[in-house]
Amino acid sequence: MCGIVGYVGKREVAPLLVEGLRRLEYRGYDSAGIAVLNENGLQSCKKMGRIDALAAELKKTKLKGHAGISHTRWATHGEPSDLNAHPHMDQSGRIAVVHNGVIENFQKLKEKLEKEGHVFTSQTDTEVLAHWIGVKYQKAMKSTNNGRLPIVSAVEEALRDVVGTYGIAVICADFPDVVVGARRGSPLVIGVGKGENFLASDVSAMIAQTRDVIYLKDYELAVLKPGGFDVYSMTSQQPTVQVSRVEWSADAAEKGDFPHFMLKEIFEQPQTIQNAVRGRINHEECTAVLGGLNLSATQLRAVDRIILMACGTSWHAALVGEYLFEELAGIPTEVEYASEFRYRNAPIEKNTIVFAITQSGETADTLAALRESKRKGHTTLAICNVVGSTIAREADGGVYLHAGPEIGVASTKAFISQITALVLLALYMGRLRSLSAALGKKIIEELELIPSKIEKILSQSGEINKIAFKYKASKDFLFLGRQSNFPIALEGALKLKEISYVHAEGYPAAEMKHGPIALIDKDTPTVIVAPRGNIYDKLMSNLEEVKARKGPVIAVATEGDEAIAKKADDVIYVPSTLEQLQPLLTIIPLQLFAYHFAVALGCDVDKPRNLAKSVTVE
Ligand code: F6R
Repeated sequence: MCGIVGYVGKREVAPLLVEGLRRLEYRGYDSAGIAVLNENGLQSCKKMGRIDALAAELKKTKLKGHAGISHTRWATHGEPSDLNAHPHMDQSGRIAVVHNGVIENFQKLKEKLEKEGHVFTSQTDTEVLAHWIGVKYQKAMKSTNNGRLPIVSAVEEALRDVVGTYGIAVICADFPDVVVGARRGSPLVIGVGKGENFLASDVSAMIAQTRDVIYLKDYELAVLKPGGFDVYSMTSQQPTVQVSRVEWSADAAEKGDFPHFMLKEIFEQPQTIQNAVRGRINHEECTAVLGGLNLSATQLRAVDRIILMACGTSWHAALVGEYLFEELAGIPTEVEYASEFRYRNAPIEKNTIVFAITQSGETADTLAALRESKRKGHTTLAICNVVGSTIAREADGGVYLHAGPEIGVASTKAFISQITALVLLALYMGRLRSLSAALGKKIIEELELIPSKIEKILSQSGEINKIAFKYKASKDFLFLGRQSNFPIALEGALKLKEISYVHAEGYPAAEMKHGPIALIDKDTPTVIVAPRGNIYDKLMSNLEEVKARKGPVIAVATEGDEAIAKKADDVIYVPSTLEQLQPLLTIIPLQLFAYHFAVALGCDVDKPRNLAKSVTVE
């Protein structure tokens, strides 16, 4: 949600900033801009639209300099426009600010400033922050600032008055080789280079330049110069500066030969499952090995209840997790929308573990719900992809997904990795309780076969494309599934609607007759997730109910199920597996269906309208 890139060093800054923004474009893409420092002071260029529009503008303006900041925006305050694009300047025009987050008290600050004669050119909260920093700067110029640069003191002083969230980067014309950054609630990472340093919302912006990074914590302020950097805490705590080495390479954040990141990430899924499982199986004891939980076997045996909190696709993975924990470990499990949980006074008994499930580790609602659980004294664990993210750091322990960077805004490979991690967790906790070694062994054997089974489904991408094309005029879809394939129906519907903007609803198949059946007619296709299993026959009855109302049916079925082909209009087959693991296979055709459908409609799959990856505002 908004991407920030800053640089200070010897190289020409504009191309580096634009390159960094391109890698962050998935965080927001309604407008973009840069500001650079050079002998003329501070110069900026901003443009509504994608990074390409900014790059075209920069060709004309040819901004030169060796220090600068930049931003790709996902609008919160003020519509997408050239004027609302970041960077924003203070009243003097000598300080520029880019910002990710929301300044909740901006209106109050703005009114004060207006009374003092400040004039604003945009509708954004960020421009108010820039002016506020400018005011503090005027005062800091007249003070000693404890030996700090006045711009550093000004940023710190201004942020003390701010209510809300921010990841910011600031430059000032009076300090041509300094970039200041600070965060609270929105991520910010320093990239450590030789004779140069970077600042960005996310590692992918600078991975092509450096793999040594420092994840800033809330209330930390960083001052970057070509030859080094300082990190200060804006609280009484001492900052702990730790340089981490990023494991993945720049290629992982490239599309390669794929037309879209989403398709690349769908095709990476056999590999991402292997990455999530690697080193985490104890074959002898038929269980999983999960060292990062930081809980002993005795503590885990004492767990009476599990709460899984998440948003969006990660919430769908949590729903699959509920089936897994209850079935394999016999632990009562509840799934909560993080955004609801954070404001509820939900009683949580002793011996409850709260899991936050999140790809980015930065989702504002999930982070707030995690903090709320911690405040109430509960053990909190994270199932998270992004190493060093806020949620990963603040949880008491957890499981990393090792899925590599997920750039496509619609989550695919992180979802499958989350389910894999939940399988491992349920297996581990089950084996500490009553799950038999025989079933544990079977789960492991089947889990290890899943990547090759996914390959088989991926090889049907061409046929799935034809099916998607056939239905491309449809405006409404119903997705049905039961048991652990019900969350898959929800996820299939979400994938379709978020990237192709058609209406799609996921439902538990048997619930259809309590209302949604009214939607069914010849123009409303139903996608039914119906692999063989203990309620297969019931699903067939649901399918008949759709057909009886002339609804077209696309079925996801188990290989060899010829009976379903006689009833459904189209069938996509998946290999058979244990029922508990079916979601790992049944989601793949639905991801491909959504992808091909959106491409057939000419939609921008990797950057769907109104969306941004990593929702760091409420
Ligand atoms: C949908 C999607 C979102 C995210 C949600 C939570 O394709 O990607 O629904 O799943 O915003 O994000 P994380 O998992 O980063 O907390």
